[in-house]
Amino acid sequence: MKNKVWNPRKVVIVGAGDVGSTFAYTLVQRGIVDEITLLDVNEELVQGQVLDLAHGQFFFPAIKIYAATKADYVNAGVIVITAGTKQRPGETRLDLLQRNAAIMENIVDDIVVQDSQAVIVVVSNPVDVLTYVAQKRAKSVSYTHLTLPTKRIV
Ligand SMILES: NC(=O)c1ccc[n+]([C@@H]2O[C@H](COP(=O)([O-])OP(=O)(O)OC[C@H]3O[C@@H](n4cnc5c(N)ncnc54)[C@H](O)[C@@H]3O)[C@@H](O)[C@H]2O)c1
Repeated sequence: MKNKVWNPRKVVIVGAGDVGSTFAYTLVQRGIVDEITLLDVNEELVQGQVLDLAHGQFFFPAIKIYAATKADYVNAGVIVITAGTKQRPGETRLDLLQRNAAIMENIVDDIVVQDSQAVIVVVSNPVDVLTYVAQKRAKSVSYTHLTLPTKRIV
């Protein structure tokens, strides 16, 4: 049975690459959350990031840090999406956008399936377009984004 108790102090970070892991490292030092959990298609990367963060826990406020499953969306307070793929040789930015939009849609579908009430923070670029994709997919009523790099894709 799903744990439906919304936990505003639980953060799921989707994408454990450079941005996701840096965000986790910064957040863990702030002491403003109880749980930080990382999700990535690269499960070995997640394990490594979790172990690295746990290694420094002696110096941090007490926080539960662990590898997430999609079921962790259900009671998350905040879901931060930093997942994305990089440009292939010869690939246009618009083609890259298509692939990243598909990734975003899949992630949002997984969040919606869990009936999550979390605030979704989109970081993946192009962040304005992908925020719009996420908002449409989630049928959410409002959205905002952090920066505006769209002019870089055309
Ligand atoms: N909004 C901003 O201000 C801002 C600033 C910096 C970077 N970014 C963007 O953040 C994104 C991440 O950058 P990065 O340097 O961490 O990239 P990265 O390649 O290091 O990490 C991306 C991670 O996403 C994972 N991933 C891919 N598909 C996934 C999926 N379906 N589910 C879960 N994880 C998946 C990859 O395995 C990888 O670990 C990029 O799109 C980058 O352009 C945005």
